[in-house]
Order: sequence, then C-alpha cells, then structure tokens
Amino acid sequence: MSDLSVLAISGSLRDASFNTALIRAAQRLAPEGMTIQRYEHLAAIPPFSEDVEPEPPAPVVDLRERIAAADALLIATPEYNYGVPGVLKNALDWASRPSFPITSWVSPLAHKPVAIMGAAPTGMGTVRAQLQLRQLFLWTDSAVLSKPEIIVTNAHEKLALDGTVKDETTEALLRGLLDALVTRVRVTQLATAA
Ligand SMILES: Cc1cc2nc3c(=O)[nH]c(=O)nc-3n(C[C@H](O)[C@H](O)[C@H](O)COP(=O)(O)O)c2cc1C
Repeated sequence: MSDLSVLAISGSLRDASFNTALIRAAQRLAPEGMTIQRYEHLAAIPPFSEDVEPEPPAPVVDLRERIAAADALLIATPEYNYGVPGVLKNALDWASRPSFPITSWVSPLAHKPVAIMGAAPTGMGTVRAQLQLRQLFLWTDSAVLSKPEIIVTNAHEKLALDGTVKDETTEALLRGLLDALVTRVRVTQLATAA
C-alpha cells in the first residue's frame, strides 16, 4: 500500500482523555503504510464568527490546511449532554466553510473520507454525539464510514491512556475501522482520478 496520511482529532481537551487515548490506540494499530497524526491545537481555535471569517485566524488556516493535506480524518468524540462537545463542533464549523463553491475554494471537508469513533466511561456514551457528527458531515458532503461503529463504553476498563487496548472486541473493531478507511480513501482517489 502506498502511504496514506490520516489527521486525527480528539474532541476532548482533557489530559487524561479516553478519546485521545482511543486515537493513540489507533496509532498503535494502524495498518502498514498508514500514518495517523494527532491534531493538538483544538484549544487554540477561536469561537466561530462570520465577522472574522474573511480573515481567518492563523489556527483556523492551519486546521484547514492540515485537513486538506490529509487523505482522511479520524475523529474521536466525547459526548457532552447527549451531544458533540462545543470545541469540536466549533472547529468543524470553521472547517466547513464555505459550504459550497461561492469563492475560488471550497471546504476541505468536502468529499474527505472520515471515520468516527468515541469513548466514554459510561454505558451508552457517545452514541448520540456520534449521530450528531454524522448529521454534520451530511451537509459538508464528507465521505463518512458507516461501519464498523466504534462505541467504547466503560472505557476505563478497555483503554489505557497510552493507547493500549485491553479489550479484544474493541481492538478488532478499531482495526476494522482503519481497514475500512483505507478502502474508502482508495475508492475516493479512484473516483477523483476518473
Ligand atoms: C459537560 C459534560 C457532559 C457530559 N455528558 C455526558 C453524556 O451526555 N453522556 C455520557 O455518556 N457521558 C457524559 N459525560 C461524561 C463523559 O463521557 C466523560 O467525562 C468522558 O470521560 C469525556 O471524554 P474524555 O475522557 O475524552 O475527556 C459528560 C461529561 C461532561 C464534562
């Protein structure tokens, strides 16, 4: 397989985040040829405003460029109050603009292969947040994987902070998601080349 670059975004700013740990797990389990780079500047993204959009702040330009340069996105979302954490939604709102080609460029999320996953110490955590993300990526025309779904419940029992996976099912699902992402990238590349 030729090299494939993935930009991974954890929706948690917490040092001991299970979702950041899930990204570390993906880095450990990445198939040969896949490089997963973690985006570490979510806290630097300012609140979205159309007033500042014409001259986007440097962290936003950097985020857009990194999304555009990556072959795919891997997102690990926590669930806050049944939804996507504000910091993650805010960053994706910035990256979603413009939502159609009204200028010479279009959102870097358009047609971008995306894999979604989530981890929580609760029994149902991230199901609802992941659905919200899927809804967002409908409008951006992103190429979101439907399956396998990675919903790591009781994450404290299954994941170590260094990304060690302590649960066979979680490891198998994670490998399956990364393999599916490779396929989606290749299909997208073929479609673009045609
Ligand atoms: C503001 C807030 C709201 C939360 N709401 C939910 C929720 O709706 N569902 C859930 O399963 N867990 C909820 N939790 C608990 C999170 O699942 C838990 O804090 C988790 O560890 C956050 O992800 P992280 O470890 O990646 O930071 C909430 C936590 C916070 C701080």
